[in-house]
Amino acid sequence: MITVQAALKRGQSTLFYAEVDTPLLDATVLLGEALGLSKEQLLTSPEAPVQEEGYRRFQEFLDRRCRGIPVSYIRRKKEFFSLEFYVDERVLVPRPDTEALVEEALALLDRRAAGSQAEALRVHDACTGSGCVAIALQHSRAGLEVSASDRSPGAEEVFRLNCRRLLGRELPFHRSDLLKQVPGPYDLITANPPYLRDGEVEDMRKVGWPEPREALAGGRDGTALLAALIRQAPARLAPRGILLLEADPSQAAFVRQRLLAWGFQEVEVVPDLGGRPRVIRGRLP
Ligand SMILES: C[S@@+](CC[C@H](N)C(=O)[O-])C[C@H]1O[C@@H](n2cnc3c(N)ncnc32)[C@H](O)[C@@H]1O
Repeated sequence: MITVQAALKRGQSTLFYAEVDTPLLDATVLLGEALGLSKEQLLTSPEAPVQEEGYRRFQEFLDRRCRGIPVSYIRRKKEFFSLEFYVDERVLVPRPDTEALVEEALALLDRRAAGSQAEALRVHDACTGSGCVAIALQHSRAGLEVSASDRSPGAEEVFRLNCRRLLGRELPFHRSDLLKQVPGPYDLITANPPYLRDGEVEDMRKVGWPEPREALAGGRDGTALLAALIRQAPARLAPRGILLLEADPSQAAFVRQRLLAWGFQEVEVVPDLGGRPRVIRGRLP
């Protein structure tokens, strides 16, 4: 029977020849998933035997990884803001950079809450996908009134599942083209909309990129949905309401300029974990 160490070596080699960027890391995570063991358990027991069924499952996972399927889709989970989200091909895999959006939202909400005795602050997350932003906010601050929206029926299903698993209840959800079908008013609207250029997305799809096209493509230059959200948000925000958007660092100046053009004040660009301009906010008068 093959040992953990030997299985890892074979897995690393298979992924290396399939030109996977991080072959040892991916092999370790996938072997752990196949055997139901943590990374630490695997690494501290290199001589442990791998049962036949677990090894067969590992090989199936490797096969899917070699075909370009992300580890998160294979495991059906992704950690975001210290919560384990269910993910599959219906939604974008949450990215670590998006945690900057959640951090900034919490900082803004805490400041707003400290300055008023009013009822719960109302937060809406548009383009919610898996619900990672909305659910992380609600999980972090139970007193908020959080809702979410997305146009995709598949995203709605994944969002509802994640709400039940992580919050023990569902949050209000609206199937909506950006903000058109959401009621408002909100004190804060967050969104990580699709912001890649259509051409970039076509190139990714040609090489089999499995994330949904509608979660990636932001129009010819990538800014169509960002611009539409900025246009629609004033009608859905309360007075002094804040719009907080994630964009590609190359689009931050554009977003800043559009926010100013639509009457937003205190427009600020916030860096992501890598120090790149990623999150942009503006406040209505
Ligand atoms: C970049 S993903 C972000 C998902 C999630 N918020 C995150 O940060 O991982 C964008 C999401 O926007 C949704 N979407 C795309 N176009 C939309 C539209 N016109 N109206 C509403 N949602 C849209 C997609 O279905 C997808 O779930």
